[in-house]
Amino acid sequence: MTPRQFANSLLAWYDKQGRQSLPWRSDISAYRVWVSEIMLQQTQVKTVIDYFQRFMARFPKLKDLASANQDEVLNLWTGLGYYARGRNLHKAAQQIVAQHGGRFPRTPETLQALPGIGRSTAGAISAIAFGERSPILDGNVKRVLIRYYALSEDPKTLEKQLWMLSDQHTPEERPGDYTQAIMDLGAMLCTRTKPICGLCPVKKGCQAYLGDRTHELPTPRAKKTTPVRAVKMLIFHDAKKGCVFLKKRPPVGIWGGLWSFPECPEEENIERWCEENYQLSIKQKEIWPTFKHVFTHFQLYITPVYVTSYEYKNLVVMDDQDHVWYALAKTPDRGFAAPVKRLLASL
Ligand code: ADE
Repeated sequence: MTPRQFANSLLAWYDKQGRQSLPWRSDISAYRVWVSEIMLQQTQVKTVIDYFQRFMARFPKLKDLASANQDEVLNLWTGLGYYARGRNLHKAAQQIVAQHGGRFPRTPETLQALPGIGRSTAGAISAIAFGERSPILDGNVKRVLIRYYALSEDPKTLEKQLWMLSDQHTPEERPGDYTQAIMDLGAMLCTRTKPICGLCPVKKGCQAYLGDRTHELPTPRAKKTTPVRAVKMLIFHDAKKGCVFLKKRPPVGIWGGLWSFPECPEEENIERWCEENYQLSIKQKEIWPTFKHVFTHFQLYITPVYVTSYEYKNLVVMDDQDHVWYALAKTPDRGFAAPVKRLLASL
């Protein structure tokens, strides 16, 4: 099969079997494609659908997003993970307004100059929204091409080779549909385990299929053990006022820009830490059961500490950019990490 035959077979399959009903595949605009591509990085389609719909309902146009405040953007990202994506989306919207007069740049090069847009995402936006013949290389496309060519090269040279192949396979006609078609093929048939080769439109040319090697390709990466961290979340709950004391996390790092409870390192003594950081002396506390939150690069053990009695000096008046007495009854208006949202709900 030539790359052209590959594309034709794939497109014919996509026209019949593709996921045309995904919300970002109708009313196509650069803005909608961009938001969907960012949400879809590292995140499954079925998770993204609701987030995408809510985001579009709140920020239907680029200018709505550019003029929003960051808390509101992160609120709509709560639970989706990888929050830098939300912060970058917001920053990029403001840059497009300021530097491009609110019009989306078209070429992969100019797209890549925006925060959060890498080479593959730039290729996808350019192909899907503008019909440019620009290749992409996400996890699905990699798996399809690795199997199709039975590649088991060193990961260092593999990446370069895959970009070259992706470029060769992307057709002049319907590059946007082709891009979505190959992603659908990877997600629906050419799955990591138990691929459904019987239904594959390009199996005739697939080296892994013909050589009965789909189970061993792509070569699995060596499993790394994930490091473990632990933290205590201090819950100051003013039950009478229905408020809880929250702190905004620093703009970079995990949960950057999200609101959390004051977080005391596991090894620290809680009383001393509170005295040093908040000039506060704790009289009574309840230690709640520890639970685990898994990130890609590490596991976080969280122990909630519910402070039942304290003597405050300045905590009660503290209400600045990075601290708030947050009213539990009001509709969430800022970003929370998933475990923080759960703890808030339990209060
Ligand atoms: N994964 C990344 N982009 C996608 C898209 N446009 N459709 C389906 N899955 C995707």
